[in-house]
Amino acid sequence: MRKLTLLILTMVFVQLTKAEDGHQLWLRYQPVNKAKVTGPECLAADKLRTYFLGENATLVFDPSMKEDAYQIKGSTVTAKNEIGLLYGAYALLRGEQGYSAPYFNLRILNHWDNLDGSIERGYAGRSIFWDLENGQPKAVNTSLIEEYASANASIGINGTVLNNVNASPKMLSAIYINKVKEYADILRPYGIKVYLSVNFASPMSVPMKGINNGKVLKTADPLNPTVKAWWKAKAKEIYQLIPDFGGFLVKANSEGQPGPFDYNRTHADGANMLAEAVAPYKGIIMWRSFVYGAKHKGEDRVKQAVSEFKELDGKFRSNVILQSKNGPLDFQPREPYAPIFDNIRRTKQMAELQITQEYLGHSRHLVYLAPMWREFFGFVAPERLVGIAGVANIGLDKNWCGHHFAQANWYAFGRLAWNPMLTSESIAKEWLTQTFKSLQDNLSPLTSHLSPLLSMMLRSREACVDYMMPIGLHHIFAFDHHYGPEPNGFIPQYPIEWCPVYYHKADSLGIGFDRTHTGSDATAQYREPYCSMYDDINTCPERYLLWFHHVPWSHRMKSGRMVYEEMQFHYNRGVEEVEDFVRIWQEVKPIIDEQRWQEVNTRMQHQLENAREWRKVRLDYFGSFSK
Ligand code: GCU
Repeated sequence: MRKLTLLILTMVFVQLTKAEDGHQLWLRYQPVNKAKVTGPECLAADKLRTYFLGENATLVFDPSMKEDAYQIKGSTVTAKNEIGLLYGAYALLRGEQGYSAPYFNLRILNHWDNLDGSIERGYAGRSIFWDLENGQPKAVNTSLIEEYASANASIGINGTVLNNVNASPKMLSAIYINKVKEYADILRPYGIKVYLSVNFASPMSVPMKGINNGKVLKTADPLNPTVKAWWKAKAKEIYQLIPDFGGFLVKANSEGQPGPFDYNRTHADGANMLAEAVAPYKGIIMWRSFVYGAKHKGEDRVKQAVSEFKELDGKFRSNVILQSKNGPLDFQPREPYAPIFDNIRRTKQMAELQITQEYLGHSRHLVYLAPMWREFFGFVAPERLVGIAGVANIGLDKNWCGHHFAQANWYAFGRLAWNPMLTSESIAKEWLTQTFKSLQDNLSPLTSHLSPLLSMMLRSREACVDYMMPIGLHHIFAFDHHYGPEPNGFIPQYPIEWCPVYYHKADSLGIGFDRTHTGSDATAQYREPYCSMYDDINTCPERYLLWFHHVPWSHRMKSGRMVYEEMQFHYNRGVEEVEDFVRIWQEVKPIIDEQRWQEVNTRMQHQLENAREWRKVRLDYFGSFSK
């Protein structure tokens, strides 16, 4: 008997400690199996029956409601369909009341997952979708994918691109399409559509029955009838298996990827050819504007998207959406908004945000990204967009995202895709109180523990900008992995746009990239008032100073400091902020469970070390010019 009790106690203990490895994300409800749920039998009913703490809950269909919207009154959830009810059930579980409808129809994660299981810019382990087992695609982990689906549904994400934008043509072979079907079947009840990234030259390596006698094509020219027929047949094959397949995401003629330009065709030719293939099934094409080094080679990299796409505006089919990164360069900790959003007027647009922290300390640094995304929406009005894509930070790590606090960025992406007007603070508060139950159980909100954690999250992005790239410095990161500094980076064999020296242009006289009318004239791509504001050194916000201006070292900042001193000020402030985060983390130790506290603590020590080292490397380097 005693042995049995001991065994049970051990099992309970293991269960409890297991629950604190972060795997449960923000979904930390305990199965109470208490509520009686009336209404249609569906996933929402299951969730409420299992987790709702009240005695009763009611689910009601109202066909007059907007797609995906829900209304919560007491413990009654009303929605148009099962997915709306599911969103409502999750909202009820987190304590919401009232009416809510998503702002964007497309709320999509982009996984940069490769078929060999690696993840481009992934810092949380290998792919949850792909790997090779004896040369074959790995078996689907149904329960893990269901957990992934629940997490996404709980924050309203309704689409997922299952593979890297640098896409392997193999993705479109039958064996992989069958896997995609398996994923689609698991994700469907959670309201999540699957999409695929496609390699534009796929017809040249994947044979298609009935096309060219089953032999691969010699061209991928979008105006070639056999190429068109290949894509139509491929779309048919996919939609026969997955009738609600979402469509394709395409990176073409960028960083070595094939595209229509290889055949002297335009991006519109390429996108429209694919759009025609998926149109009968209501599929969409998300065509990326992240192109440089092809048709406009040699031009200031931040200008090339507008140069390429502006003249094509209005030439795209209605099921094509142009997908652009928030900034004109590449997911830097701070960029001015991408002016392509101003220049494209007659083509649908989506913004691409990066949840994974390629240039923001990977999964080692605590950087809460909602303030960065909110900043973007301050320049690009959400009504200009039909959707939002987020480059996922998810992998096989037990805690999904590598850093426990990186989960907050997945959460924040979903919440902002649902409602871009939510504040960074309200999202952080929601996430903290759900993720660390202790903040909810023992303390009223705004107690001594919640507010320092909130403040740490809210300050973390600015701290990162300070210790990585203050006053508009950019792309001074180490080659290839982009972790840490390499301000002296120059490799003659590399495209110049990959080299840090191209971006800061420091010499004995001054520093910064002249993008005004006397320089590359990138400022001209902006709408007013930003065009004039950024162009004039007196009105250009100092946070973008070295992005838009080349200034002498003697330039006086608003603070009265000279440029180098101002850099010093920011680098020091960044480091001091991280010191404070470390202090806060020590302070909250008593209320955070052991494992998560330790894991975050280790990473924070690392972050602090990095911030100090990065300050030193950059100040030494720039100091050698400024004297
Ligand atoms: C960046 C990133 C690449 C990625 C590319 C893209 O350049 O470093 O890994 O493929 O963006 O967004 O296409």
